[in-house]
Amino acid sequence: TRPLKVALLGCGVVGSEVARIMATHSKDLAARIGAPVELAGVAVRRPGRVREGIAPELITTDAAALAGRGDIDVAIEVIGGIEPARTLINTAFENGAGVVTANKALLAEDGPALHEAAEKHGVDLYYEAAAAAAIPLVRPLRESLAGDKVNRVLGIVNGTTNFILDRMESTGAGYAEALEEATALGYAEADPTADVEGFDAAAKAAILAGIAFHTRVRLDDVHREGLTEVTAADIASARRMGCTVKLLAICERAADGRSVTARVHPAMIPLTHPLASVREAYNAVFVEAEAAGQLMFYGPGAGGAPTASAVLGDLVAACRNRLTGARGPGESAYAQLPVSPMGEV
Ligand code: HSE
Repeated sequence: TRPLKVALLGCGVVGSEVARIMATHSKDLAARIGAPVELAGVAVRRPGRVREGIAPELITTDAAALAGRGDIDVAIEVIGGIEPARTLINTAFENGAGVVTANKALLAEDGPALHEAAEKHGVDLYYEAAAAAAIPLVRPLRESLAGDKVNRVLGIVNGTTNFILDRMESTGAGYAEALEEATALGYAEADPTADVEGFDAAAKAAILAGIAFHTRVRLDDVHREGLTEVTAADIASARRMGCTVKLLAICERAADGRSVTARVHPAMIPLTHPLASVREAYNAVFVEAEAAGQLMFYGPGAGGAPTASAVLGDLVAACRNRLTGARGPGESAYAQLPVSPMGEV
């Protein structure tokens, strides 16, 4: 069988882990996919940096040319942000390649257009890594629960802010110090404003609400408060009341089923609640569905390797489809429910 060719767009914290796992697990990946899978090129911003395990001839600074190469089967976009990621993804689609992306900001802003473009070109769009990294959430909501009715998705979906709150509470560390540590560990976004102001969590809430409720939810539809206003005194007084502070994302279907709401804000939760024991950069999400009942998803929601794990899972799916001529699930936004940030339409 001919090898499947992968373009890796971006080689930062996540991209370098994707390349590493592809190299170390190449035999297993080939066996699971049914054909060998190889890196055809790696687009980077700074070509001078040493990238262990990646053949130097694969490195390019011309991401557009790589995404547009005729021999690419699947493009992996791990650059983040809106541009140039959006243009590169569209180039890959036009080129007939499937796309795997970890880009929550772009999906929350322009998900419907991306889905339409994938549809038009008859290729896959996979994005498990865009919401809570290694924790399977997108696939369960898109596929496993597709026959059920999801009423609520609620939890901690940003590792950086959870790490900061945890450090402030457990070690008395200051906010800046905790943020610095989160950045050093590869949890924070390139610009940590997205984490601490709640944009990252709101983007994930928009993506999850859209898939859970089969409607279109954009970042702007999500009410958002970050944790920059939370002080050490707030955390201490929550503690005295037997509570802890967590940044929660809450997506709900209205009781009458005719609208949905999505919001992100700091919340006091009792120490006895399972979310209170979510430490460090871990994430935890409850999904409540009519027939399934309450499901809890828990695990590392940030960091290079956990995010790469989700990307690799999607890569396997996209490559298998490539071989069989199948397609992954497209957008299922058929309900067109009004979205309001706080509950009332
Ligand atoms: N910066 C994000 C977080 C990474 O801290 O959760 C995963 O999306």
